[in-house]
Amino acid sequence: MSRKRVLSGMRPTGRLHLGHLFGALDNWKRLQEEYDCFFFIADWHALTTDYAEPSQIKTYTIEVVLDWLAAGLDPKKATFFIQSHLPEHAELHLLFSMFTPLAWLERVPTYKEQREQITDKDLGTYGFLGYPLLQAADILIYKANYVPVGVDQVPHVELTREVARRFNFLYRPVLVEPEALLTQFPKIPGTDGRKMSKSYDNAIFLSDSPDEITAKIKPMVTDPARKRRSDPGNPEVCPVYDLHKVFTPNDKRESYIVPGCATAGIGCLDCKEVLLKHMLPVLAPVSNRRAELSRDPAKVLDILQDGTCRAQKVASETLEEVKAAMGI
Ligand code: TRP
Ligand code: SF4
Repeated sequence: MSRKRVLSGMRPTGRLHLGHLFGALDNWKRLQEEYDCFFFIADWHALTTDYAEPSQIKTYTIEVVLDWLAAGLDPKKATFFIQSHLPEHAELHLLFSMFTPLAWLERVPTYKEQREQITDKDLGTYGFLGYPLLQAADILIYKANYVPVGVDQVPHVELTREVARRFNFLYRPVLVEPEALLTQFPKIPGTDGRKMSKSYDNAIFLSDSPDEITAKIKPMVTDPARKRRSDPGNPEVCPVYDLHKVFTPNDKRESYIVPGCATAGIGCLDCKEVLLKHMLPVLAPVSNRRAELSRDPAKVLDILQDGTCRAQKVASETLEEVKAAMGI
């Protein structure tokens, strides 16, 4: 009995932070226990927007793989690879481009939005329009049943289903229509209270050491109405409390943090000490594992090579079926 297959990808845009850990990675870790999982770095997708400044793509690719492994994704359970190491994806993308109506790509909501919003680069390119079709090839080449993604990516999975249906109708039923698995993201604020993001300079990275994390939490923004130690606060509007919700056990929050804050019984620094006490034991092993792995690049390359081999077996088989069906 073969397990159902899961596939997902990430663009290499920088080191991963707590937003990624509690959004995507925790979910992937659960999935690797139950499904035949393929996880890859979408470096060609990074080129569709960063073609003029590609210098960071290679570095970030390795950084993200290190973050995955440090977070507990396991190469014995799941298959990891880099998109550009599998030219089969590109060949399938080309074949799909023959029968995909231009209008399907032009009406993808992320395409329209990003053309309007991203003004510092010229995205009037062939590659950028084709982005979701390349993503369809990534997914369909593994006959994935499930694609765990955030809500912004759902239109791409929808397009993927349409491409599979059109192929199966025009030629013969080879491709599997995948389903999106919506990833629930808990609210993870950055140290300034805004959404955690590398570009806001407010992120806690998986690579941060306990000392670095402590140095970021200490000055973190709290309930803005709590200016003095004697002012009572409201945890529900405090970004530090959002982190407590992720790290600190329920009973400790409800018996100590919430009443302590509301009565000014504890100060914000006390509160942050409690947070760090629960946060560091979870995050220190991650940054330790990451530091260890980054001293052993040969091991990471081995994992990727092994993943490429495993992925290529599946990808080349699908590609052969597709080519035969298309008469090539
Ligand atoms: N477009 C996705 C993102 O920006 C990355 C991606 C590329 C992907 N190919 C994929 C995700 C295939 C899931 C499946 O996050
Ligand atoms: Fe936020 Fe804690 Fe300060 Fe209350 S005591 S405002 S929850 S940091």
